[in-house]
Amino acid sequence: MLELIKGPYLQNPGETSMTVRWETSGRAAGKGVLYAASRTHNGPLEAGQEPMQEVISESVPLLEKEDGIVSSFIHSVTFNELEPGTAYFYRVCSEGEGGTAESQLYPLKTSTGKGTPFSFAVTSETGGFSWMDKTGGEINRSIFAQMKRFRPDLALFIGDIVDDGNRYEDWDTYYFAPGKELLSTTPFYSCLGNHEDNAAWFYRFFAYPQPRNYYSFDYGDVHFTCLDSTDFVQWGDYPNSSAPIGPGHPQYDFLEQDLSSSGARWKIVFFHYPPYVSGSYQVEAMRELCPVLEKYGVDVVLNSHTIVYERSFPLKANKVDFDEGIVYIVSGGAGAMPEWLLPKREWHTAQSLAVPHFIQAVVTRERLEFKVMDEEGRLFDLYQIRKDADGRKQHF
Ligand SMILES: [Fe+2]
Repeated sequence: MLELIKGPYLQNPGETSMTVRWETSGRAAGKGVLYAASRTHNGPLEAGQEPMQEVISESVPLLEKEDGIVSSFIHSVTFNELEPGTAYFYRVCSEGEGGTAESQLYPLKTSTGKGTPFSFAVTSETGGFSWMDKTGGEINRSIFAQMKRFRPDLALFIGDIVDDGNRYEDWDTYYFAPGKELLSTTPFYSCLGNHEDNAAWFYRFFAYPQPRNYYSFDYGDVHFTCLDSTDFVQWGDYPNSSAPIGPGHPQYDFLEQDLSSSGARWKIVFFHYPPYVSGSYQVEAMRELCPVLEKYGVDVVLNSHTIVYERSFPLKANKVDFDEGIVYIVSGGAGAMPEWLLPKREWHTAQSLAVPHFIQAVVTRERLEFKVMDEEGRLFDLYQIRKDADGRKQHF
């Protein structure tokens, strides 16, 4: 019997487009169906409501068993010609040798344009407790459920979302299964952590901009830049490029070109290895990027790898600088390793706590606000950056 194994899940949110992906248990064709939403109905469609769009999917074999039989297909559709910042409903359907499979109806919302507020959520390390709980764990389910309660427009995952990226089953166990309700309604981006191991599955499941292990995109008034820190720095046995962090490294050159060409009101960069954390697994080599981040006005850097929460003071030139500094936030979200924190804070530590958590952020032109909550939704950090018309910042 044909089944939906993963998804549907949302990718590449645009102001006028949205991509939907899903995986079926066998060979099948597929389509995505889009419906208009209105403020007068919330979920169930009006009787007899006709679809706005039906888009035939691209469907490609994903998994082959040892006997050569294709046992799963991945499907992708993109809805186009949508309105910015607008909610719709969608479902996906597949039909193949094993019958038909159809998802329930889910909401989606296109990206907002410049000047329009939006919200995003952040976490990571859903594979981080894997050595303790091979089922994906209650913590993951709680974190994903709490994130969804706040109805973010976008979600970011800062790596190590699986235990072993080369293991097909891990992507379901730690990520797609516990995250199903969030990921079907919230477009998401993630970056490579060491546990993803730059595995082929990352590229098969996700549809990120080229070259896909690092990329950038705009959402509202934010320019987001994602880097692959595992390509910059050797960690354990994980391979990396041998080029030093600096001009001539393709990713370093991309970062400089990307940040220098963006005039966005806010700039947020995310990558896995943390340049600043008062705990285990700080990766000081990543500070080689700081001059570029500072030069082009990055406001916040999001990291993971150390399975704690930590927020730095605004930092510039390796000193506290409330006028021009960058705030570095480690959101090693779904896990919590108190023993990974050093016995005492370091000079750059503004707030730090080892509990499972996620960040709920809201963005306006004037204000970037981060609320940080544990797996039961209890607030334990609140931080705001305000920016005036001339770009001068204040931190609260
Ligand atoms: Fe890591």
